[in-house]
Amino acid sequence: MDFAITWPASVLAISNLTLRIAAPYFVRWLPLGPRFTPLIYTSSVLYFTTFIVNLLCLLVTVDFVYRNHVFYNGNELSFSRVGYVDSSSARVVIRAPLTLTVQIEYRLENIAQWTPGQVLSSLPGNHDNVLTFALTSLEENASYVYRTNASHIGSFRTSLRNPKRWSMVTTSCIKPFYPYNPFDHSLRIPGLEYLSRFVSLHNVDFVLFLGDFIYIDLPHRFGWTTGDYYEAYRQVYSSPSWSSELFDLPWLHIYDDHEITNDWSGNETGLYQDAIKPYLDYQQAANPPPLRKGATYYSFTRGDVSFFVTDTRRYRSSSAMDDGPGKTMLGETQRRDLESWLETENVWKVIVSGVPFTRNWRGPEANDSWAGYLWERQLLLEKMWKTDGVVILSGDRHEHATTLFPSPDGKSKVIEFSTSPLSQFYQPFERRYQQIENTDVALYSHPYGISKFGSLTFDTSSPDIWTLGFELVINGMDVWNYNWTLSRTRQ
Ligand SMILES: [Fe+2]
Repeated sequence: MDFAITWPASVLAISNLTLRIAAPYFVRWLPLGPRFTPLIYTSSVLYFTTFIVNLLCLLVTVDFVYRNHVFYNGNELSFSRVGYVDSSSARVVIRAPLTLTVQIEYRLENIAQWTPGQVLSSLPGNHDNVLTFALTSLEENASYVYRTNASHIGSFRTSLRNPKRWSMVTTSCIKPFYPYNPFDHSLRIPGLEYLSRFVSLHNVDFVLFLGDFIYIDLPHRFGWTTGDYYEAYRQVYSSPSWSSELFDLPWLHIYDDHEITNDWSGNETGLYQDAIKPYLDYQQAANPPPLRKGATYYSFTRGDVSFFVTDTRRYRSSSAMDDGPGKTMLGETQRRDLESWLETENVWKVIVSGVPFTRNWRGPEANDSWAGYLWERQLLLEKMWKTDGVVILSGDRHEHATTLFPSPDGKSKVIEFSTSPLSQFYQPFERRYQQIENTDVALYSHPYGISKFGSLTFDTSSPDIWTLGFELVINGMDVWNYNWTLSRTRQ
């Protein structure tokens, strides 16, 4: 790295010095052309080449940081996407900057008759012209199309009431224009293109996106207002990498730190209040309903699998606090809700956490994950060990790791699949995932690749043994497969 920076500077300095000494000496003192002109010409070429290379380095940096901010604020964005869909209802998010009153209509794919849906009005500037429609009383396992008077069209498919075999994708972290290529559209998101190809070839029922959908602070923060956050969402949704297949797929969201600022642990005060409003409008309104009014965490069930999607940012104690009783990632109310869900749900349980549950990611950032909240983590693990088993899904680290959390009696099976980013950097040199304690058994880890997502296929058709097939997809390639089972002993 140092060499790459210093050699152009050395060439620039030496050629500069040679030119300044040789040229005056040649023209004023010793006019020996064959001796001096090659030296002067070569030094000039070296000087200008090095100068142009350095100028290009500066230009690509400025282009990378500022192009989207200057040219793509997304004000014109008009789009629609599908949110949570179950066997009888669907949510559709639209943005219509030029239409004040929007009506949605929908119909079964094979029936010509349109059914009028909700009519919603947006006040300009209030919610960034974003509206979320709820379509209800739908038929199970049926394909629907929808349209609006603001020229949106799309489709979705309702689920079976009790599906026994189905698939989902989990990932987190998106930043447009990375990795930089000057010839790309600056909102390009290569990971969305990999995902789009994957969903066109596989049955995927929904995407669970675990946060860092925007990076308000990377590579550069342009502002701190709610308007700045809205702009970041508009930019991601304006990306040419979205396909109609991806917008037709139900996406469920939770947010993480970069929807607020890096490693946020400032509770729900100050900056949080400015940052969260765009998240609520663009993402949360189309999630399953929160478990409590005004909360952001939620639970939903698909077939024999129940999900508890935690909010690991809003209620957490400062990550700088000493670990122990009183330090919390979830806050007391959410933790109690999670504990009672663990005690009462008699299906396969999936806990979703924005940040990794394992402590195996070491280094200065570890305190931002559950590694900095081990006291509360232990409480939760002991509750999980009282069940047949729990699957934990997480993101945030821009790496993949599968980790086991063995119960002392060996009867309960707890496993975490942590998979990210969908389209963002990974640490090129530092390897931080390492098993030290036997509480967190490292099964597999894969740090490399700018695009990672996990595809999970649940199969609960057998009464005694339920299976989960996990597939790790990196830069569009199937890299690792793992089968996990759950024996139904405590029904
Ligand atoms: Fe991230």
